Amino acid sequence: MKDAAHDRLLIIDFGSQVTQLIARRLRELNVYCEIHPFQTVTDAFLEDFAPKAVIFSGGPASVVNADAPRPPTSVFDRGVPILGICYGQQVMMDMLGGTVEGGKISGGGGTAEFGRAHVKPTAHHIDLLDGWFQGDDDREQVWMSHGDHVSKLAPGFDVFGTSPNAPYAITADTARGFYAVQFHPEVHHTPKGAKLYENFVRLAGFTGDWTMGAYKDEAIRKIRDQVGDKRVICGLSGGVDSSVAAVLIHEAIGDQLTCVFVDHGLLRQGEAEEVTAMFRDNYNIPLIAADESELFLTALDGESDPETKRKTIGKLFIDVFQKYASEIEGAEFLAQGTLYPDVIESVSFSGGPSVTIKSHHNVGGLPEKMGLKLVEPLRELFKDEVRALGRELGLPQSFIGRHPFPGPGLAIRCPGEITRPKLDILRKADAVYIDQIRKHGLYDEIWQAFAAILPVRTVGVMGDGRTYDYACALRAVTSVDGMTADYYPFSHEFLAETATRIINEVPGINRVTYDITSKPPGTIEWE
Ligand code: XMP
Repeated sequence: MKDAAHDRLLIIDFGSQVTQLIARRLRELNVYCEIHPFQTVTDAFLEDFAPKAVIFSGGPASVVNADAPRPPTSVFDRGVPILGICYGQQVMMDMLGGTVEGGKISGGGGTAEFGRAHVKPTAHHIDLLDGWFQGDDDREQVWMSHGDHVSKLAPGFDVFGTSPNAPYAITADTARGFYAVQFHPEVHHTPKGAKLYENFVRLAGFTGDWTMGAYKDEAIRKIRDQVGDKRVICGLSGGVDSSVAAVLIHEAIGDQLTCVFVDHGLLRQGEAEEVTAMFRDNYNIPLIAADESELFLTALDGESDPETKRKTIGKLFIDVFQKYASEIEGAEFLAQGTLYPDVIESVSFSGGPSVTIKSHHNVGGLPEKMGLKLVEPLRELFKDEVRALGRELGLPQSFIGRHPFPGPGLAIRCPGEITRPKLDILRKADAVYIDQIRKHGLYDEIWQAFAAILPVRTVGVMGDGRTYDYACALRAVTSVDGMTADYYPFSHEFLAETATRIINEVPGINRVTYDITSKPPGTIEWE
């Protein structure tokens, strides 16, 4: 790893809920970083990783306890800058000879603190704080979340910022390049937190060499090295991740890549044609477009249990993929669009010393079953970086900006029995809804939008006649990663116009509702 083409920063994870945000802030600065749980960071690991700087994350443990998580002491001897955040500050002080006190202490010397606080500077400025404390009232808002606090600094450290409850809010030993803060600069509630990271990586000598252009060239080299003259197959869903992975791999190995696009009969209006045209016309990538809609829809006919629907689709998808893949002579690799958030090992305190590994396989179980090796060229990227790479590779914006679409497709937007007539109605309603969103210029503001057809028929009146048709629900959410979401606040005018259009243009629907549930407690999809 030492000869990596770009500078590397190591984030040692002590189990904070927001460790991933540290990585996001650094990537925005074109700094390459990796998150590793403290248990896996050994002397040998450090030697191999050769970080140019290290960040200790926050975490829920108390350094006062004997079995508190710690980094190896050798991390302090590497001569590289270190930034400790919250628990990271406390562990740094504790290991370097300072004192940390546990629990809530009232009055004086510091208390537990959760939420917004304001930090004031002390007499001396340090480069880490360039751009801070320039406002009229000479203080900065920060986000605190700590029970323990530092009560005595380690030798060599001074204090450069204080808050009413954290006398050692900002501390540093500038001679050794060790910095430690009690608050969380990575969260949005610390408005100038990004500046602090920018200063830290500048002081550490990072040049911002992590660019998508450089990443693309390096990824192409790696794919060529890994694959040699063998063949790769790639399951295309039409989503951004698998599309970008396919185009990148095609750029690396050309016709040694074959893509398989399975139409399971649960796609949106025009989706199969759009995806196949984009790959055939723009890239000339060998593509098997497998129309397996009969197989899937027959198996799902009349099925209404959400879990059975998902399992049926998952199993058939593997069967079908295997059938087509076995026709590709010499295929030894399976490409997947796995992203970095899927592979980060997160620290688990509830599970004792073991770590929880979030493994994610788009085609679960298939590689082992078929003896295929995985090619995962997006493993180091976050979703927005995948989009940036897509742009670098010249994918049309219409593709890069597409809303996510789940593997089980319309099946999980059709609660109750799945029937072909209901799917047809749903497709039409969804197309009108998305058309409305585009016409009003809202598509890129919304993370995901779709219609669901409800298993309920209602009475209406159209013209002079009675109708007895399906109700549909419209869903639109804003989100960063799909883990949490808010409903999108459409105007009443937009909703009224859309409802009228759907009822007029889609036979079979006579009532339209808008879903205003956030996630949690709801999920984005209906099943
Ligand atoms: P939920 O409904 O769990 O969805 O809030 C979160 C995000 O994940 C998508 N989703 C899936 N994607 N296979 C996928 O590839 C699935 O089985 C699946 N289920 C949900 C969903 O569309 C949303 O973007």
